[in-house]
Amino acid sequence: MVIGIPKERKVREYRVSSTPQTVRVLVERGHEVLVERSAGLGSGISDQEFEKAGGEIVEGEEEVFIRSKLIVKVKEPLPEEFHLIRKDHILFSYLHLAAYPELTRALQKIGVRAIAFETVELTDGSLPLLTPMSRIAGRLSIQIGIHLLEKPGGGKGVLISGAPGVRPAKVTVIGGGTVGYNAVVSAFGLGARVVLIDINPKKLEFFHEEFKGRVKTVPSYPELIEEELRDSDLVIGAVLVTGVIAPKVISRGMISKMEPGSVFVDVAIDQGGCSETSRPTNLDSPVYNVQGVLHYCVTNIPSLVSRTSTFSLSNSILPYVIKIADEKIEEDPALVKGINIDEGRVLIKLN
Ligand SMILES: NC(=O)c1ccc[n+]([C@@H]2O[C@H](COP(=O)([O-])OP(=O)(O)OC[C@H]3O[C@@H](n4cnc5c(N)ncnc54)[C@H](O)[C@@H]3O)[C@@H](O)[C@H]2O)c1
Repeated sequence: MVIGIPKERKVREYRVSSTPQTVRVLVERGHEVLVERSAGLGSGISDQEFEKAGGEIVEGEEEVFIRSKLIVKVKEPLPEEFHLIRKDHILFSYLHLAAYPELTRALQKIGVRAIAFETVELTDGSLPLLTPMSRIAGRLSIQIGIHLLEKPGGGKGVLISGAPGVRPAKVTVIGGGTVGYNAVVSAFGLGARVVLIDINPKKLEFFHEEFKGRVKTVPSYPELIEEELRDSDLVIGAVLVTGVIAPKVISRGMISKMEPGSVFVDVAIDQGGCSETSRPTNLDSPVYNVQGVLHYCVTNIPSLVSRTSTFSLSNSILPYVIKIADEKIEEDPALVKGINIDEGRVLIKLN
């Protein structure tokens, strides 16, 4: 099969869906891999490295789409890319359709088979192609929060670890999945007072045991969320119900009761965001202010560490790219769950 690797077009999206190592594996299996010129530069990978691995460097995105059957991207196609997609393509990338109705309609109209990384699901409910980026975004959410809490950026001027005689910052993480766990590990490791809120009692049990009671666990009820948010310095939004629009667990009223200079990093923004006050931002202009609370709602956070993210993502997707290229999608139930749109039909629940 001819596999196309376009350069990402989203603002400051530095990742690429394949590395020379994964290209080599595909080429050795008899597939042809077209890589758009300079697609890897943002991740420190040169065109020559792709060529040495057996890939063909192609000028321009259009040629990649024209000559390929399978398009493997990182982020969802942008409106200016819609015209490049054909009915006979297979599109494999993050899609987050619940948050992008315009993309859903476009893919339906084209009739393409669109497989989303984030809904590929194993029998135990785990999401093998969301997890690698969630792990990274969770770690980064605390790094981002730490900087935003500094005074010059509009934050409170609070050091996460506190100081002798001064209390550490309070960090509240809503959603104890992959993003949440990694945010908690980082915040806890830095000495913050950490609260974890989840709707699933098993998650609360896990965090209670894992951190030996030193992370406060709270069930997800609006009044308890409000209480915890009131004196939190940093809040991380990390909820997910697979495929559907994120539940709005934070209201505008809750935000208005937080102290000015507090920070809210909504990692769940790619599924629409988990606060009434959330709206997507990009890495050029990542932060806005709602009633004194800094909101960071970037939809492609892992791009900040593009090299780590590219290698992590491409390794994870490779077995699935192989199955698609070998025309064995139907043999893998996890991959079948990833099919979001096929011949104009939406096959997942979006809200
Ligand atoms: N912005 C970015 O760049 C970026 C990067 C990676 C992941 N994400 C997003 O982060 C979100 C979380 O991803 P994840 O991999 O951690 O998901 P996950 O499925 O591992 O965890 C989600 C958690 O949310 C909990 N939850 C669901 N509804 C809840 C509610 N009403 N109240 C409290 N908890 C609730 C679930 O019980 C679960 O523990 C997803 O939307 C994902 O797409 C964004």
